[in-house]
Amino acid sequence: MRTNELGRTGLSVTRLGYGAAPIGFLDTGPNQIERLINALLDRGVNLIDTAAAYKGSEAAIGEAVAARRSEYTLISKCGMGDDDLPGDAWSPERLSATIDRSLQRLKTDYLDVCLLHSCDLETLQKGDAIGALVAAREAGKIRFAGYSGDNSPAVWAAARPDITVIETSVNLCDQANLKTVLPVCKAHNTGVIAKRPIANAAWKSPASQPGFYKQYASEYHRRFGLMGLTPTDLGYSGHPEVEWPEIALKFTLAHAGVHSAICGTTSTANAEANVAAIEKNPLREEVVQRVMEAFDTAEAADDQGPWIGRT
Ligand SMILES: NC(=O)c1ccc[n+]([C@@H]2O[C@H](COP(=O)([O-])OP(=O)(O)OC[C@H]3O[C@@H](n4cnc5c(N)ncnc54)[C@H](OP(=O)(O)O)[C@@H]3O)[C@@H](O)[C@H]2O)c1
Repeated sequence: MRTNELGRTGLSVTRLGYGAAPIGFLDTGPNQIERLINALLDRGVNLIDTAAAYKGSEAAIGEAVAARRSEYTLISKCGMGDDDLPGDAWSPERLSATIDRSLQRLKTDYLDVCLLHSCDLETLQKGDAIGALVAAREAGKIRFAGYSGDNSPAVWAAARPDITVIETSVNLCDQANLKTVLPVCKAHNTGVIAKRPIANAAWKSPASQPGFYKQYASEYHRRFGLMGLTPTDLGYSGHPEVEWPEIALKFTLAHAGVHSAICGTTSTANAEANVAAIEKNPLREEVVQRVMEAFDTAEAADDQGPWIGRT
């Protein structure tokens, strides 16, 4: 599977990564998780993204694939889902305790990347939270520090010398960060991970989505409807439920500044379909342009705009 260098980290990451939020929040079961993540590693995917806040996700990854630790770049996040730990929210004490707990849950000695989990700009600018990641890096607990989030906090974080990775929403229904965050990442050679890369399957009705995705995907579903695209418009001829995941993933990866797209799934079949999708030809440039124009036109006509990046 093709890889990209993750900015100035020098890490070589596959263009498709695994987003491990849904296995924490949805009732997936240990056998299914083990099958799913091992299948992705077997097919060459080498990037796993999780967070302290994703309920059982870190522990499930530790159980499923800690024995294969040398085969994947491991990203986790701190600053959310840590109310039970000592110290104030976003304090160095709390963040340090969270990282220690993540290492235990993930059964590893180090995280390749640790991200601040979507704190606001004021918290970033205060400096303590970034300082906690620098201390963890100096202690050998993490290799690189980064930020996961969108809009102005991500723009600010992307230019900091100690922030080497930005995880930000990029997908066909969420294109603001492409215009604001990615140019700053490019200028500073900051690594870019695209979160929510298939727009939370925005083509599905929210009612048909499982658990938290019902609400989480609803704004993307609304935008998707206003964009009014069909696979046929984009030169595809199959069933929309089959074509949209491929089109959506390829749209995210069509932007050179995106180093990896971490697609979330609880399904081994969907994970394998995503691997197959990115091994096909990329989207044609005119298709990418058509999707970008549909976004701009629908955003401009929407009273509820602007369509900012969704955290
Ligand atoms: N603030 C943050 O830091 C933040 C926020 C959001 C996300 N993230 C990270 O980004 C990752 C990805 O985001 P996400 O999981 O929200 O969204 P996503 O990857 O855009 O979409 C996930 C949804 O798409 C479905 N799906 C995946 N592959 C499919 C396929 N081939 N066909 C049909 N449906 C498919 C999944 O359902 P099935 O389970 O049925 O496949 C799931 O409902 C997360 O897991 C997390 O690691 C971070």
